[in-house]
Amino acid sequence: MGYERAMKLLRPTMLSGIPENSFDSESKCVVCRQHCGRPALLDLFSGAGGAAAGYRRAGFCVLGIDHKPQPRYVPHGGCRFVQADALEYVAEHGKEFDAIHASPPCQAYSVLRRANPEADYPDLIEPTRRTLEAVGTPWVIENVPGAPLRFTVVLCGSMFQLGSGARQLRRHRLFETSVLILQPSCLHRGEAIGVYGGGPVGRYTFENGAKRDYYHRRGGYQGRVDEKIEAMAITWMNAGELSQAIPPAYTYFIGCQLMVALGHEPRVWPQKEVPVPVLSPGGVPLPSSMRQEGC
Ligand SMILES: C[S@@+](CC[C@H](N)C(=O)[O-])C[C@H]1O[C@@H](n2cnc3c(N)ncnc32)[C@H](O)[C@@H]1O
Ligand SMILES: [Zn+2]
Ligand SMILES: [Zn+2]
Repeated sequence: MGYERAMKLLRPTMLSGIPENSFDSESKCVVCRQHCGRPALLDLFSGAGGAAAGYRRAGFCVLGIDHKPQPRYVPHGGCRFVQADALEYVAEHGKEFDAIHASPPCQAYSVLRRANPEADYPDLIEPTRRTLEAVGTPWVIENVPGAPLRFTVVLCGSMFQLGSGARQLRRHRLFETSVLILQPSCLHRGEAIGVYGGGPVGRYTFENGAKRDYYHRRGGYQGRVDEKIEAMAITWMNAGELSQAIPPAYTYFIGCQLMVALGHEPRVWPQKEVPVPVLSPGGVPLPSSMRQEGC
């Protein structure tokens, strides 16, 4: 069986929907409205831009869409933000972009759901997939383990040496994509650091340091804000935004493969450092060693 046919059977949407010569270097970029020479990526459900920063580093010009204001959306430049409903915006403008990423809210599938089984969390994955398939632009949907994604790759912080001190960031996230994406294997060693919202920080969920309690509830070390900043390699978010974000390393990895699928050369990261003042969530300037490279 030929490669193309095998791939079509494996992933029905994988090879379809990549318009030939989709990026026209003569026309102005839909994001920055300049001749930037970068393909344009629409970042749906953007939050404060953990995903966006990785795509930017891979070479995309990125437009973030969130229904809440995001005053800290990727302050390094190269990304623009519009406050709007994600599904309405993509239905109207999705075709103007070269690629689309979507991180629909994950509460419906996360541990929050197990803690509050009666709560009514919106399930946006199915409507998001339907809309992206109808638009036809190459796409990526990201979510938490347990979410109903198809044909997923799983990324983990241990694949990218993320962590704080001796503790590894694991933070598994699923990616369903309309193009072929490869994934490395987890390299779990030693203890993990958790980056979650709520609850006490800088300590173990269970006082004795156990990973699970008698009833098999999950536990572990929940990082302080400075440890979370280091583990995620995100310097511009507050604690709430960090707990919702994905590390830019994940979307740099996905973004490089997306660039190749679109016929572009991915950018090399880190690039030269751009001297921007970066504040920690508490307003204290971070040491230069912890500042991120410019996008
Ligand atoms: C999991 S967070 C995204 C995190 C982001 N990918 C990152 O890496 O930083 C989901 C976001 O979806 C936004 N959201 C929820 N419903 C939305 C909607 N209908 N339209 C636009 N944004 C929405 C929330 O405000 C939240 O910021
Ligand atoms: Zn641009
Ligand atoms: Zn892992």
